[in-house]
Amino acid sequence: MRTVHTFRDARALGSGCVGLVPTMGYLHEGHISLVDAARRECDTVIVSLFVNPLQFAPTEDLASYPRDLERDAEMVEEAGADVLFAPQLEEMYPDKPLTTVAVDLVTEGMEGEIRPGHFDGVATVVAKLFAGIAPDRAYFGRKDAQQLVTVRRMTTDLSFPIVIVGEPIVRESDGLALSSRNTYLDPAERAAARSINRGINAVAEAIIAGERSGTELERIAATPVNDEPGIDLDYATLADQDTASALLDLDRPAFLAVAARVGRTRLLDNVHIDRIDGGWVPDAGIRLDGPSILYREA
Ligand code: PAF
Repeated sequence: MRTVHTFRDARALGSGCVGLVPTMGYLHEGHISLVDAARRECDTVIVSLFVNPLQFAPTEDLASYPRDLERDAEMVEEAGADVLFAPQLEEMYPDKPLTTVAVDLVTEGMEGEIRPGHFDGVATVVAKLFAGIAPDRAYFGRKDAQQLVTVRRMTTDLSFPIVIVGEPIVRESDGLALSSRNTYLDPAERAAARSINRGINAVAEAIIAGERSGTELERIAATPVNDEPGIDLDYATLADQDTASALLDLDRPAFLAVAARVGRTRLLDNVHIDRIDGGWVPDAGIRLDGPSILYREA
């Protein structure tokens, strides 16, 4: 595996079908599942690692976001990627950017409402990665469901000839969705965070049992979080998979997204819901058998 720091070098190393896995580093099994998918489907796998300042508000955790290039390079190599593209700030933003990619409508609710400007930062950096590396396929986790909707829409609107692939959420064995930010949680916070997964599981069960009301599914997701001390719900929303707009009823492919705050950490989770063979099928992702690398290292 080669580690490179410029767009020119990253692009030069891509041959055949190129798969890109964009990340902000401090990798875990969720990222590795994206590399695995890219490895299965592409000739060259490029993982990008860049903590993108544009998508953090001044009040957020840009300075404390976990970073360890050596650790990440080992993981990416072990996962079988060909290239790790780890640009410095000057390569990504040689000047203060005057061009921003802003995706309307799909970014209005949920995270877009709570983190104004966040998706402009995400869409801008992903567009730059797409333009600079020119992959054929790009892989994103479904945990950031609204991000996935935004990237898909940006890709279509800007005519990038790139297939966007969304991969299932990977979870700790107790159900906590993997996130580099889980490293911020102390044991009491981690215990409180489990309530999110209880809500997600209850939603999946309710859908299987025939529940279709958006309000009722949102109530089912919210209840364990609201009942748990030490965690504050931001929202539980049933949303359209294509537009991220809130749904009154489960009548099209959707996701039920939950966001909550535990101490200084914001956690996101969701259950993805598809129509398969005439029925609604919830998919909450996969659970690891034991602790993820984030907890094995702790
Ligand atoms: O999901 C992330 O890690 C980031 O938002 C992304 C897509 C790498 C853009 O910085």
